[in-house]
Amino acid sequence: MIALIVAYAENRVIGNKGMIPWKISGEQKRFKEFTTGNIVIMGRRSYEEIGRPLPNRETIVVSRTQNFDCEHCRTATSLEKAIQMAGTEKDIYISGGAGLYKEAISMVDKMYVTFVEKVIEGDTYFPEFDEAEFEKQVEEHFEGEIPYTYVTFTRIRK
Ligand SMILES: NC(=O)c1ccc[n+]([C@@H]2O[C@H](COP(=O)([O-])OP(=O)(O)OC[C@H]3O[C@@H](n4cnc5c(N)ncnc54)[C@H](OP(=O)(O)O)[C@@H]3O)[C@@H](O)[C@H]2O)c1
Repeated sequence: MIALIVAYAENRVIGNKGMIPWKISGEQKRFKEFTTGNIVIMGRRSYEEIGRPLPNRETIVVSRTQNFDCEHCRTATSLEKAIQMAGTEKDIYISGGAGLYKEAISMVDKMYVTFVEKVIEGDTYFPEFDEAEFEKQVEEHFEGEIPYTYVTFTRIRK
């Protein structure tokens, strides 16, 4: 399975100045749960934000300019090459940023979205996509200072 995993705000913001522009306790629980034991593909800037490979899963960093080669992390020069590198044994989770998401939407079987229910200031956005290509399932809603909802989009047609 090839999936995309993202958290975006009401105004589709995913990032600001190289960082995730909110701090919501527990919001990344689903990311950890799904990606552990699998393969995460992310853009170079997102990887540098984390600054190290994530534990208990393999990271493939997409970059044209740099090479990350450490335990459980490799580099591919394109998203397509990263997907080839990942193979088919494990699930693949494409986890941003904006450019990778844009390219990935047409390739993925599933999109695991966290809707952050607030307008957030930022400079990086999740792209618009055709919701008619997916079945939308609202999974779970969480109240709090910034409420959020887990939603799964499963592809029904290309
Ligand atoms: N809310 C969320 O779920 C979420 C998830 C991820 C990231 N973010 C946020 O998004 C921001 C980072 O995203 P971003 O869009 O600025 O950067 P990014 O996608 O993480 O990284 C961009 C870099 O990745 C490489 N890259 C991207 N697409 C490529 C392609 N098709 N082929 C080869 N290389 C490619 C390039 O690296 P080189 O320049 O080395 O060639 C490019 O400069 C941060 O603010 C981060 O916090 C949010």
